[in-house]
Amino acid sequence: MIKIAVLGYGTVGSGVVKVLNTNANIIAKRAGQEVGVKYVLDLRDFPDDPVQSKVVHDFNIILEDPEISIVVETMGGTKPAYEFVKKALLSGKSVCTSNKELVAAYGAELVHIAKSKSVNFLFEASVGGGIPVIRPLNQSLTADKIEQINGILNGTTNYILTKMAQDGSDFDVVLKEAQELGYAEKDPTADVEGYDACRKIAILTSLAYGQQVDYEDIYTEGITKITAKDFKYAKAIGAAIKIFGSSRRVGGKLYAMVAPQMIKSDNPLYAVNDVFNAICVTGNMLGDVMFYGKGAGKEATASAVVSDVVDAVKHMNINVMTIWDDEKMPVEPMDEMKNRFFVRIGESEKAKAESEFEEIKVVDGGIDGEFGFITGIMTESEFNDIIAGFDSFITRIRVGF
Ligand code: HSE
Repeated sequence: MIKIAVLGYGTVGSGVVKVLNTNANIIAKRAGQEVGVKYVLDLRDFPDDPVQSKVVHDFNIILEDPEISIVVETMGGTKPAYEFVKKALLSGKSVCTSNKELVAAYGAELVHIAKSKSVNFLFEASVGGGIPVIRPLNQSLTADKIEQINGILNGTTNYILTKMAQDGSDFDVVLKEAQELGYAEKDPTADVEGYDACRKIAILTSLAYGQQVDYEDIYTEGITKITAKDFKYAKAIGAAIKIFGSSRRVGGKLYAMVAPQMIKSDNPLYAVNDVFNAICVTGNMLGDVMFYGKGAGKEATASAVVSDVVDAVKHMNINVMTIWDDEKMPVEPMDEMKNRFFVRIGESEKAKAESEFEEIKVVDGGIDGEFGFITGIMTESEFNDIIAGFDSFITRIRVGF
C-alpha cells in the first residue's frame, strides 16, 4: 500500500480523503496498489471526524517518515506551503497540489527539484479545478505549437456575470447573493479583481511554451466595474460578457491579459455559464480544442488531485517530464496589444466619436443620454490616447469578435 499525507484539511483536503475513501477500489486498480492516508496535517483538530486519528500538527513527522512517498498539498497560499513542498521534494517524496499561488510563483523551481530527485511535482487541480487541462498540455498537445489559450478560469466571476446577465442586476447585488449562497468568498478580491485567473493563465502559458511567465507581468482587470447597463448593450447585439484569461503568441511575441470581454454565440465559450470553467486551446495543427467542467468545488477539485496521486503511484521514482524552464518569457506591454473596444460615452460627444474613431459600429442599448459603439481594431495605447479627449467617457469593454 502507498501511504500519503494530506497537508491542509479544508475544502479540497477533506475532498481528497473523501475521494480516496469513496473510490478506493477503482483507485487501487488504476494505481496498481492501494492508496491510504496516513497523516493529515492541520493546525486544527477534528474530534467529530474519523480522520482525527491521523491528524498531526508537526510537518516534520511527515517529512521524516520514510513510509510517506506522496504528499498532497491543499493548504493554499505560499507560506508555509512553499517551504513544506520544497522540503518534501528534496527528501524524495512526490507532491500533488491544488495550489495555484504556489504553482504560479514557484512552479519552475519545484518542477526542477522533482526532476533532480526522480520524483514528481503534479498540479492538475491548480487550474480549472476538476477539468483535465494540465496533463493534456503536458502530454497530449505535444505535437502542436500552441498559438492561443483563452479560458474562463474563475467560477466565482463566471457565476456573478451569468446572474447579472440573467437578472439584469448590478455587480454589488449579485456579489452579495453569491456570498450568501457560499459561491463567493467573504473576501472576494482575488476572484473579482481577476488575480486568481491571472495566476491560472500564467501557469497554462508557462506550460504551453515551457518557459516561466510571471503572473505579475500580465495585465489584469476584474469585473467590479461591469454594470447592468453594460449587459443591456451586450444583449442588444446578442453578446455575452465573460472574464477571460488569455494569451496568444504572434510572431514570437507573447501577449497575455485577464479582462472582461464581449463575445458572441459563435465563440465556443459563450454558453459556459454559472460556476463552470472552460479553456479553449488553439494549436497550429490541431486547431481549437476545448476543456469544460467544474472549475471549483470540493469533490471536483479533489478528483483532479487524486488523479495526480494515481499518476505519482504509477511513476514511482520516475519523473514524468514537465518542461518549465525558469528562463523568463517576456510578455509584451499591454499598450501594444490590439483589440476592438465597446465604448459608452455621453450622447453629446457622439459626433466627435464618429470623427475620431474609424469604422465604428453603433450599439443601441436603449439608454437615454448615452452613445454606445464598437471601435475597429486598434492598439490599447491608440485607444487610450483618443478616449482621453472625451469628457463624457463612461466605460469600455474589450470585444472578442
Ligand atoms: N475561487 C476559485 C474560483 C476557486 O472561483 O474559481 C478555484 O480556483
